[in-house]
Amino acid sequence: MTCRGLFAGLCTLDLVQSVDRMPAANEKVTALGQTVAAGGPAANAAVTFAHLGGAATLVSAVGAHPLARGVLADLDEHGVRLTDLTPDAAGPPAISTIMVTRGTGDRAVVSVNGSGVRVQPPPGLADLVAAHQVVHLDGHYPGLALAAARLARERGRLTVLDGGSWKPGTAELLPYINVAVVSGDFHPPGARTPREVLARLAAAGVPWTAVTHGSGPVLWRGRGEVRSIPVPRVDVVDTLGAGDVLHGALTFALCRALGEDPGVGPLTGPAPGPGGRGSATETFTEDAFAAALSFAIPIASAACASFGTRAWMRV
Ligand SMILES: Nc1ncnc2c1ncn2[C@@H]1O[C@H](COP(=O)(O)OP(=O)(O)OP(=O)(O)O)[C@@H](O)[C@H]1O
Ligand SMILES: [Mg+2]
Repeated sequence: MTCRGLFAGLCTLDLVQSVDRMPAANEKVTALGQTVAAGGPAANAAVTFAHLGGAATLVSAVGAHPLARGVLADLDEHGVRLTDLTPDAAGPPAISTIMVTRGTGDRAVVSVNGSGVRVQPPPGLADLVAAHQVVHLDGHYPGLALAAARLARERGRLTVLDGGSWKPGTAELLPYINVAVVSGDFHPPGARTPREVLARLAAAGVPWTAVTHGSGPVLWRGRGEVRSIPVPRVDVVDTLGAGDVLHGALTFALCRALGEDPGVGPLTGPAPGPGGRGSATETFTEDAFAAALSFAIPIASAACASFGTRAWMRV
């Protein structure tokens, strides 16, 4: 069975440079190395999903500027199909300027994050959702995310949210989410600690949740108590996009688990009733979710051992 994942959200052009240390104001430093690739949580997750053997479709805004060709070439090289929301846009794609400190792997990121771009969900979104088993959302382009999440609910497709931060539209999205894996920077109003965040997500109706924290253990929660999974120790070169890699790998593992579960089948059955979560997660077990996380975590950690967001795939 081929796993099919739809990734809706941000796609940037990442300009990544390795430095000994961050420059101070008005200072110039010489880069030790550089790399260019498509970036953004949705794009990196889609590339990871495809690298693992899945069929990945990305829905994002890229456009027709000459720099967009760098994005398209990278997606193409990694086997990700793109549905471009702004194919005729003349301006440059969203650009992330990133400095990675050699020695620590810490990254400093400047990005426009697509917030200045107004996009409409594409006309064929319902068919796209129907054609994939899992719909992954990074919360960027909130109108697109909500439309995709609603369609996924109608079709009984599994929805996975990458919660990088609490954004406009996140609260509206949560009732449609089956799996939310959020970063340490994701704080629903009033929720500070990871346990509080997990509790808030559960209260919002998300059945399967986790909080990642860099090299720290991943806390997760399904039907029972909060549990934790350790993160492997690696010689860190670059942590850029590690969370995105975790999401691509997790989405792949969840998709595979759905396909292997005879109780779930190909997810082409009738749409669940209003407010229903569909068959997609009702048959998930604690063990299946823990196994999917345990598959994804070491892949994300291994991605930290090389510079840029693609080199780990060639190791
Ligand atoms: N220093 C590290 N050492 C080992 N593994 C790491 C390290 N940093 C990140 N990882 C791996 O990547 C996963 C996600 O990391 P993190 O929590 O930093 O994601 P994030 O905050 O979403 O970041 P981003 O979205 O910018 O990549 C971790 O659970 C772990 O598996
Ligand atoms: Mg992240």
